[in-house]
Amino acid sequence: MARYADSLEAAARERLPEEVYRYFAQGAGDGVSAAEAEAAWGRLRFLPSVLNDVSIVDVSTTLLGAAFASPFALAPSTLQRAAHPDGELAMADAAARTGTLLVVSSNAGTPFEVVGATGVTWWLQMYVTADRALTSPVVDRAVAAGARAVVLTVDTPVVGSKRPGQRSVWDAVDPSWLRVNFPDGEVGAGKAPDLGPQDVAWLAERWQLPVVVKGVLRPDDARRCVDAGAAAVWVSNHGGRQLDRTVATADALPGVADSVRGDVEVYVDGGVRRGSDALAAGALGARAVLLGRPALYALADDGADGVVRLLDELRVELVEGVRLAGFGAFDGLPRSLVQRWSGAGPQL
Ligand SMILES: Cc1cc2nc3c(=O)[nH]c(=O)nc-3n(C[C@H](O)[C@H](O)[C@H](O)COP(=O)(O)O)c2cc1C
Repeated sequence: MARYADSLEAAARERLPEEVYRYFAQGAGDGVSAAEAEAAWGRLRFLPSVLNDVSIVDVSTTLLGAAFASPFALAPSTLQRAAHPDGELAMADAAARTGTLLVVSSNAGTPFEVVGATGVTWWLQMYVTADRALTSPVVDRAVAAGARAVVLTVDTPVVGSKRPGQRSVWDAVDPSWLRVNFPDGEVGAGKAPDLGPQDVAWLAERWQLPVVVKGVLRPDDARRCVDAGAAAVWVSNHGGRQLDRTVATADALPGVADSVRGDVEVYVDGGVRRGSDALAAGALGARAVLLGRPALYALADDGADGVVRLLDELRVELVEGVRLAGFGAFDGLPRSLVQRWSGAGPQL
């Protein structure tokens, strides 16, 4: 049977207005990083282990102490209500139904209370504002609605430039699809261009929640996050939507994982499209793999049911991958499971 995941981009393209599809799909600049992400996972090769009992395979995991059915999780994205009328609510419903972690953007078009009421385990992704006072009510509201962690996105001092299309997505967007969790009048609050380690410490201390730093590619930055009090580091180049020609996350992950040496959890996103990508990510040190565009396309295709189908398919693929690789669990996969196929890229 054909993979559902393989059909999704074409299905979303068919269903969505051209400018919305383009907004979801495109990368920044020449689109080099956006185009390379998936292929970077595909360059990795496995060295499976044999003569092991794999009758039982467990891909469940814990992230910051909470239990989930698999390491696949839903990355934050803006304009989910442009993908489907139910937007973030449908994502939350799908996550709750499958035991999946949901990360909700501070740009969300659905009140945090509506997300929280689904019973999902969710984290807030925050674009901290230039005026820090405008960030506080948003985090307060998320925490009151049950957010269990704050994800600080650090790769977006400004939004990376994209090639213009025929029509701008912003002309097609209903204002109620964006930033509804900001108090009135503050929706124009600009992103902070001066984020520093002190912001990680501020979020952690003020709200007493774990802080995850999203958008880390360099080993030395990962260490700075740990020193600033981060509970986890999220390897991401924002789906290739910020600085173009950043390295692929599949290539950046091992260096970051080595740098934090198990002191904090490590997650990764960017081009993750199949169970084998998660298998490789786990061996290279990631505890979670997050889905951006595939989840948006599944949402566009069939709302919460589409997202559930995608997550179920990927989990089943991962179970098969872990079993064929000769291991009994996703947690604890060794680095030696993966080797690079060609001489390209840094040595693992
Ligand atoms: C349409 C779109 C909107 C996004 N909005 C946000 C956002 O609001 N906050 C954020 O931290 N990342 C955002 N991202 C980045 C994703 O969280 C994630 O890093 C990226 O999409 C992963 O790559 P993938 O799309 O190849 O899975 C967005 C990505 C897309 C495609």
